[in-house]
Amino acid sequence: MSIIKVENLSKDFGSISAVKNVSFEVEEGTIFGFLGPNGAGKTTTINILCTLLSPTSGKAFISGHNCKDEPSSVRKSIGVVFQDTTLDKDLTAYENLLFHAYLYNVKRSDRKARIHDALHFLDLYDRKNDLVKTFSGGMKRRLEVARGLIHKPRVLFLDEPTLGLDPQSRAHLWEFIVKLPEMHNVTIFMTTHYMEEAEVCNKIAIIDNGEIITRGTPTELKKTVGGDVIYIKTSDNMKAGPEIEKLFNITVNDKNGELYLTVPKGDALIPEIIRTIGEKVLSVRLQRPTLNDVFLKITGKQIREENVSSNDTMKNAVRSYRKKFDRN
Ligand SMILES: Nc1ncnc2c1ncn2[C@@H]1O[C@H](COP(=O)(O)OP(=O)(O)OP(=O)(O)O)[C@@H](O)[C@H]1O
Ligand SMILES: [Mg+2]
Repeated sequence: MSIIKVENLSKDFGSISAVKNVSFEVEEGTIFGFLGPNGAGKTTTINILCTLLSPTSGKAFISGHNCKDEPSSVRKSIGVVFQDTTLDKDLTAYENLLFHAYLYNVKRSDRKARIHDALHFLDLYDRKNDLVKTFSGGMKRRLEVARGLIHKPRVLFLDEPTLGLDPQSRAHLWEFIVKLPEMHNVTIFMTTHYMEEAEVCNKIAIIDNGEIITRGTPTELKKTVGGDVIYIKTSDNMKAGPEIEKLFNITVNDKNGELYLTVPKGDALIPEIIRTIGEKVLSVRLQRPTLNDVFLKITGKQIREENVSSNDTMKNAVRSYRKKFDRN
């Protein structure tokens, strides 16, 4: 069942068309990634869904409620972690959450337990009585996620939840985010520039200049790039190249002393190549397409100028989540 429905949504700011005729749906209990470069229209779309902006045209629904016409019903169903932090730095972690519980009319008898649960879940319980101004960036972001959960929303919006965090803090935050759908019965709508983070999403839509340019599961999108690339060095590349071409009916190219070939499933083919060809294999490496390659292929540009290559911690967090996800 779709918990978010967006139909032909557009938003203009004067002469700027921030969102142009965008449509998509998000299934309940999933993690949906809304990816795009700076100024693509991600926050504008979130603001419309969160009832903070009216669309110029088109419609958006959350749990069947129209975001424009039924804002209070929509607000009850959602939690938001905004791109810019909105915590009160002169209050403690506990007080920030308590204030939020008041705002959302959480029953007095439920408040303490909910706040404690959220603080435990985000690994902040021990710091509950500390002022937020003494928190690290990662702790502040985790506290904002905790706050977003206090009133038990059905959808949690995370706008660039990990922006500006160091790789360890990003990985730490992700450990909690990936558990949210199952443990807190909530659908996640997130935006990020970090393409490797989007690997954990069940579905992705990529937006550029206000338009959705592609959508699908991470695997589906990466398939559109054209498969894995195998790089091989052999004792005699001049012989091995044509041999592999003939045996496997594949085009083989030579680059800087390495043979390379694009195939749908590299890991399955590598052992066969090693077993079959006459030349000695000196080295083999497999390069899988990334979501960055997807963006690059469609738009001809990198999603981000600076280098955001994943470090091992991040890769491991994503890998362990994927394993779990693939099992289910
Ligand atoms: N209140 C506003 N008034 C005028 N223009 C706006 C306003 N809000 C957003 N825009 C413009 O709309 C476009 C989309 O902005 P938006 O904030 O939605 O992008 P974004 O994808 O969230 O970018 P980022 O990754 O930098 O957060 C940009 O050109 C931006 O300048
Ligand atoms: Mg934004």
